[in-house]
Amino acid sequence: MKIAFAKPGLPNTGTVVVTATDGGHLTASGQKLDRKANGALDRAIKASRFKGERGRSINVVAPAGTRLDNVVIMGLGKPGDLTAQNAQELGGSVYRQIEKAPGGAAALAVDRVSGAGIGVADMAANLAHGARLRSYRFDKYRTKEKKEDKPTIKTLNVQVEGPERARRIYGPLDKIADGVFFTRDLVSEPANVIYPETLARQAKTLEKLGVKVEVLGPAQMKRLGMGALLGVAQGSANPARLVVLRWNGAGSGARAPAPIAFVGKGVTFDTGGISIKPAANMEDMKWDMGGSGVVIGLVKALAGRKAKVNAVGVVGLVENMPSGTAQRPGDVVTSMSGQTIEVINTDAEGRLVLADALHYCNTRFKPKFIVDLATLTGAIIVSLGNEIAGLFSNNDTLATRLTEAGDSVNERVWRLPLADFYDKQINSDIADMKNVGAGRGAGSITAAQFLQRFVGNTPWAHLDIAGVTWSKKDLPLAAKGGTAFGVRLLNELVAKHYENK
Ligand code: BES
Ligand code: MN
Ligand code: ZN
Repeated sequence: MKIAFAKPGLPNTGTVVVTATDGGHLTASGQKLDRKANGALDRAIKASRFKGERGRSINVVAPAGTRLDNVVIMGLGKPGDLTAQNAQELGGSVYRQIEKAPGGAAALAVDRVSGAGIGVADMAANLAHGARLRSYRFDKYRTKEKKEDKPTIKTLNVQVEGPERARRIYGPLDKIADGVFFTRDLVSEPANVIYPETLARQAKTLEKLGVKVEVLGPAQMKRLGMGALLGVAQGSANPARLVVLRWNGAGSGARAPAPIAFVGKGVTFDTGGISIKPAANMEDMKWDMGGSGVVIGLVKALAGRKAKVNAVGVVGLVENMPSGTAQRPGDVVTSMSGQTIEVINTDAEGRLVLADALHYCNTRFKPKFIVDLATLTGAIIVSLGNEIAGLFSNNDTLATRLTEAGDSVNERVWRLPLADFYDKQINSDIADMKNVGAGRGAGSITAAQFLQRFVGNTPWAHLDIAGVTWSKKDLPLAAKGGTAFGVRLLNELVAKHYENK
């Protein structure tokens, strides 16, 4: 869907969206239209139970006295509650009302609302951004979908006083959405299409945005000593890759600032390996590369909007398969850091991949901080469900900044503890550590403790996104499916704290 901004002036035909505030009061454009329609809109509001509640709406179909097909009256709620985030979610609601507009276009009138928490240009840009985010659909394999089920909307015409300003605010938001969509595409693709080699090829496409992309194969990784990552990959016919993405928006060369770094788990399919998973829902494990998808989409967003930051993305890409060459429970591998790991359970593979990716990232780039993202544990879904991601960190400032960034874009994270007594649980009798905890308790924490052993003293945070990477129901800004949870959050973190302005 294309977004266009223009001066106010509703069309005489087609689909239009106007707004009403708390109490069911039409804003200026709605009032103007209502006069043309001889009061039909106001009567419709009074005849319904609609009171202008935020995100609720009514449709006035083909109002007499006009040639319009449909007038959507979208509730804005209380003006004081209007924030950028709420405006985005409202944009998502607008999209749902116009997605099947005949003619493929709709106009949205954005009026100044007195007492609103944000200005009218911000409001227009964020409404548009939310509408676009909600419009994402992964339908490339649905060759027989009925025409009447497909959205028709091609263009949303946003009408606002001072459209240039709205357009300027919208510019970077559009690039963020491009990053989100790329992530959603990558996590939605099945594992016969996206495997380490093809995922690396997708990452390579960011070169056209000025991102430096390096792809390491098994031979190079072997030379680097990445025994933990390669141990996971050894059962698969699809060889591993490690991809390094570099966006130098704050300059390169000797005087360039140290980068910030993002590391992603990219298990393109997780069968569990020899510790094989049950068949039920195993298909979900195509999105076990979600963390790497977020890192790649984030770098796309940063490069797309030319963020003034130096950022590194490192993704470890493997397929976890059982086979005659697969690693066995009890195998001991040596990680790039030199630390040895007894692999008790081959299904705890994400931490093995991250062990080498984290150490590589930390020692090569000496970043200001590392945030890793991983669909790491089923236990985090037991703890936090599908709404909030788990946050673990060795640094209070970074943890607070992540929590605040998440709150402001409604990708919420909740911090869980790290502590020595959890760390002790992963000590092994025959190696430096084992890849699962002692008992069944605190599974997400012992996983995080494992990762912490590979980041040294660098400020680090781990986001366990197993519960939020995929949604089985529609969300305000995403249809069911891949959410790209993390892209907007980390973009916000960067924009707020790490960009030279
Ligand atoms: N990829 C899974 C975690 C997962 C589970 C993500 C469900 C999304 C939905 C991970 O590799 C895994 O298998 N973890 C194990 C760890 C256990 C063996 C210690 C788990 O959570 O059961
Ligand atoms: Mn697993
Ligand atoms: Zn996994």
